[in-house]
Amino acid sequence: MTTPSPPVDRSDAADRPLRGKLSSATRRDFIRGIAAAGASTAGAVALQSNGLHLFAEEASARRGRNAFSEFTAIAPSSEDALEVAPGFRADVLISWGDIFRDGDRRRLRYGFNNDFLAYFPLRGSREGLLFVNHEYPDPFFLHGYKPNGDPKTPAQIQEEQDAVGNSILHVKRRSNGRWKVVSPSRYNRRIYGDRPQLRFTGPRAGDPGIGDTANGSIGNCSGGITPWGTALSCEENFDGYGMDVTLNVEFAYGWPQFGGQPEDAEYDFTNFAKYGWVCEHDPYDPDYVGRKHTALGRFRHENTAFRHEPGRKFVLYMGDDKANEGVYKFVSDRSLRSSRHRNDNRRILEEGQLYIARWEPEGRRRFAVAGSTEPLTATEGTGTWEPVPDAMLDDTATKLRAAIGAAEYNTHYATNRPEDVEVAEDGSVFVALTNNSSVNDSHGAVRRLREQGNDPEALEFVWRDYAAGGPTGSLQVGREGFSSPDNLVFDKAGNLWVVTDISSLSLNVPGGVYEYHKNNAMFMVPTAGSNRGVGFRFANGPVDCEMTGPYFTPDEGTLFVNIQHPGETTGIRANSPGIFGQEATYTSWWPEGNRTTGDNPATPLPSTVAITRGRSGDGDDDWDDRDRRGRDD
Ligand code: FEO
Ligand code: CA
Ligand code: CA
Repeated sequence: MTTPSPPVDRSDAADRPLRGKLSSATRRDFIRGIAAAGASTAGAVALQSNGLHLFAEEASARRGRNAFSEFTAIAPSSEDALEVAPGFRADVLISWGDIFRDGDRRRLRYGFNNDFLAYFPLRGSREGLLFVNHEYPDPFFLHGYKPNGDPKTPAQIQEEQDAVGNSILHVKRRSNGRWKVVSPSRYNRRIYGDRPQLRFTGPRAGDPGIGDTANGSIGNCSGGITPWGTALSCEENFDGYGMDVTLNVEFAYGWPQFGGQPEDAEYDFTNFAKYGWVCEHDPYDPDYVGRKHTALGRFRHENTAFRHEPGRKFVLYMGDDKANEGVYKFVSDRSLRSSRHRNDNRRILEEGQLYIARWEPEGRRRFAVAGSTEPLTATEGTGTWEPVPDAMLDDTATKLRAAIGAAEYNTHYATNRPEDVEVAEDGSVFVALTNNSSVNDSHGAVRRLREQGNDPEALEFVWRDYAAGGPTGSLQVGREGFSSPDNLVFDKAGNLWVVTDISSLSLNVPGGVYEYHKNNAMFMVPTAGSNRGVGFRFANGPVDCEMTGPYFTPDEGTLFVNIQHPGETTGIRANSPGIFGQEATYTSWWPEGNRTTGDNPATPLPSTVAITRGRSGDGDDDWDDRDRRGRDD
């Protein structure tokens, strides 16, 4: 077998429009953009839209299909199982703690709480690299710690630092259709919470508190790809790492207090601004030193979605995943150039202008009471992109709010917690506004923004709330409605795939506003045809989890997805039910057991899963099984 070599940019890359996450991109598709193929059908369910929670959009006739275009939608479930629509199979590819090896056969341990993922092709849809984020640690499952005010040991902090960051995984589809990790591989790599050093770029690099480098990367929530073949990883909830554990709150990790390493002081955000940035990594180039781009601002970065139009500047859209925060656009000084060496394109995000969206008449969807699906506020309007001064790049949202004034900011800049942002094939931008309890928005919405003249550099736009979360009242199976949209991805047919993020402590609460939804789930929302805007439930996650990072292979024959934080409520608080080492007390036993059926009490494992049309037969697996069980070493 020959070793695949990293593809290079195609010469005409800059001559065609390129969109968003290019979720289904082959290296060729990087060039083509998403072809306007495909019917958004949900054909197997073929039900008439009831129009609930659907705002009018012009229909665009499309034809075509992929392996996921047609399925029978499934009912909500609170079972401790990963359920997918009939005819599909979901195989765990790799789980937290599994060992894979780099080109020197060094052991690498798959991290915790996988979130963003993207597939970078080596050989089309048969072999590639998965870039995966490991967003945050769970001290209970890592080492038995509950937030009870006790100090942590340096070893416990180190274990948490080892569990987060990113993984680059070499994967291959076997002849039987199932995926395996290729190990050892020179592409296999980890980035951790405290190493290696990443380099700052842009206008604020070298400033006090920022410096030239940062140790590793944390809070890696979602991300994006670039058309020059790199991954962008977004540092989101960085605050908790510097927070004192004696506060006794979930998601406070206390790294500066007890880490024991002098550099751990840099997680204290009263003095440092080392984290909270967009990081660029090159999965194809193991020697590439990751970058933190200060030009993109520092806030709770959720993800990035790019848009490239020939002759126009390169544009990235981003959301600040915090209640009452904003949506951003970065317009690069440099254009993507076909003639340029890849090294030069990797500098596109170093200089440019950051903007924040100003919404008219107002940015938030406000409701009279929690659980309501009738907003008090407008569901469409106009907006402008307001420039962010360089002086605000190091603490962007805080400084903008202070300069603009809280009342004005809350009316015109705040939104209901933007999670994923995606660029559609027509250039419009979809924003998942997940929820916002401060304005009684329990269920969130997906908002669509169109730039004036469809120009990515435009400073004016119009917007409309495209699909709203909440119970539809439909009695048709699988159409009960989604809530709290998080990651979005388009397939080539133009269908929007949505995963939900109802917080684990709010799931399955009897009488609660989310009771109807049961577990977090994945939905397909056709954007054309009679089912346009309707959410069809495709998959249900196991107990307490959130499904994250959905990403199609170029042929759309495989949908990779992460199962993040299964069983999270086990040890999240001092009085949570889990007793460390006693699996029967854990709220989820997935994937090795099923708490609902009582089968095989086990530690829940955040995992990366490949969903395919069901295929039978066994193939050989040359990923050493002893390695796979490495977490038990
Ligand atoms: Fe980490 Fe924005 O969810
Ligand atoms: Ca997210
Ligand atoms: Ca989320």
